Amino acid sequence: MSATQTAPAKLSSGMRTPGDHVIVLFGATGDLARRKLLPGLYHLDRAGLLPVGYRIVGTSRRPLSDEVFRAHARAAVVEFGRGELDPGAWDAFAAGLSYASSDAADASALADAVDRAKEQIGGSPRLLHYLSVPPVAFAGIAEALGASGLTGDGRVILEKPFGTDLASARALNAIVHGVFDESQIFRIDHFLGKETVQNILALRFSNGMFEPVWNREHIEHIDHVQIDVPETLSIGSRAGFYEGTGAFRDMIVTHLLQVVGFVAMEPPTSTAPQELVDRKIDVSRALRPLDPTRVVRGQYDGYLDEEGVAADSQTETFVALEALIDNDRWRGVPFYLRTGKQLAQGRRVITIAFKEPEIQLFPLADGTNRGPNELVFEVAEPGGISANFLAKVPGATLELGPARMEFRYDDSFCAANQLEAYERLIHDALLGDRTLFTRADGIERLWEVATPLLERPPAVERYAPGSWGPDSLNQLIAPRRWHLPEDGR
Ligand SMILES: NC(=O)c1ccc[n+]([C@@H]2O[C@H](COP(=O)([O-])OP(=O)(O)OC[C@H]3O[C@@H](n4cnc5c(N)ncnc54)[C@H](OP(=O)(O)O)[C@@H]3O)[C@@H](O)[C@H]2O)c1
Repeated sequence: MSATQTAPAKLSSGMRTPGDHVIVLFGATGDLARRKLLPGLYHLDRAGLLPVGYRIVGTSRRPLSDEVFRAHARAAVVEFGRGELDPGAWDAFAAGLSYASSDAADASALADAVDRAKEQIGGSPRLLHYLSVPPVAFAGIAEALGASGLTGDGRVILEKPFGTDLASARALNAIVHGVFDESQIFRIDHFLGKETVQNILALRFSNGMFEPVWNREHIEHIDHVQIDVPETLSIGSRAGFYEGTGAFRDMIVTHLLQVVGFVAMEPPTSTAPQELVDRKIDVSRALRPLDPTRVVRGQYDGYLDEEGVAADSQTETFVALEALIDNDRWRGVPFYLRTGKQLAQGRRVITIAFKEPEIQLFPLADGTNRGPNELVFEVAEPGGISANFLAKVPGATLELGPARMEFRYDDSFCAANQLEAYERLIHDALLGDRTLFTRADGIERLWEVATPLLERPPAVERYAPGSWGPDSLNQLIAPRRWHLPEDGR
């Protein structure tokens, strides 16, 4: 193999190969397809994780020839793929790509292209539709699929966000359920990535050292939990999308509350997808409806000047809130969630903060009594886990100072076997594994929990780009402190 060839290791050991498929990529000319989905499909092919027999049919409303679509896909793989493109591997992959335009009113050309792809594969390949289109287009496309006979036992991946409130999520579910059974629907939650979810569960349930921390009998040791996802990016050119969505709908409902489900779930009886999804939704059911007085909404200075943003926009680019779970395990243990644009760092951090011992025998070296007492999951992949605790400062006196034990996945395991989040999700959907996808009742429950905030949102507060958010962020969590920034302690 030459130095320019960058074939990933074949990952088939222990991994199942999906049955034959026609993958229909809606929104094939869009941003997500270009940056993630087309390069991801190419990488899956090179890793030997696509079915033995498969074809990919790209579609959107604009007309394109197969050749132009293949050139578009090639450019996407060159720009956004991992490593250099291998010409031989590309030719083999491109031979399976075709394109047909479609819209909500007429999917007949697409149906013909799918038929041709099925004939080329032979046998009875299953369909996987990936709806990488603006959410307003979901319903029309689902109906067009039903009318064109493109459903059958096929599966459909729906991008986020799924609805904008309880009523719209219910309406969308009703339309999609008119065409697909719930077991065929894969609502995306790519945020954590399977690796991280499984790492949290592995740490919790496979280690005698950590399991008691989450154990019902000992939960009084946990003081609170933080799920913190600051972003440095601005909204860029996505004002059209962001103005009608905001940080709460874009991130909290779609991602951070899903993370709460994995952190707080009861021990599953197995790692079967259905079991994990059930336990995660149990947590959503126990979530108390959000209290708008325990929510901080922020907007970065300069947001109103972004192109496409209304001069009087009240859309939040930042949100921090307290979530409470009304079950025996978590009653009285608040979860603090924060996310926002144009913040000081881009991080994905889950912090389990422990209570301090009631009796403080030892003073801290800096004269205070409080110290770090946390288990911290860095969930941006490859990620790591650290324990922050107090240790004796060397010397003649018995004083304590902050100490840290750290585990980094990069240092300990071979990261080359990792798949990117979208690659895993496509592979999971081909296999029918729904662990990382949300279910209708789960997403509706989260919108129900969100309703008080959507109906009575507090006013947005300004914050400086590069900060950690509006000042009231700290009042929300007081007397506790945010784990980030680390140098703030
Ligand atoms: N981009 C990201 O980083 C990102 C991240 C997370 C989630 N998402 C989600 O992924 C989806 C796609 O986002 P995107 O950024 O790729 O959007 P985009 O760049 O605007 O592309 C949208 C794609 O959908 C097609 N399309 C638009 N309206 C359509 C309609 N009514 N019927 C059929 N096709 C239609 C467009 O082609 P035509 O105009 O030719 O039809 C285009 O191919 C959205 O749900 C978004 O929320 C995107």
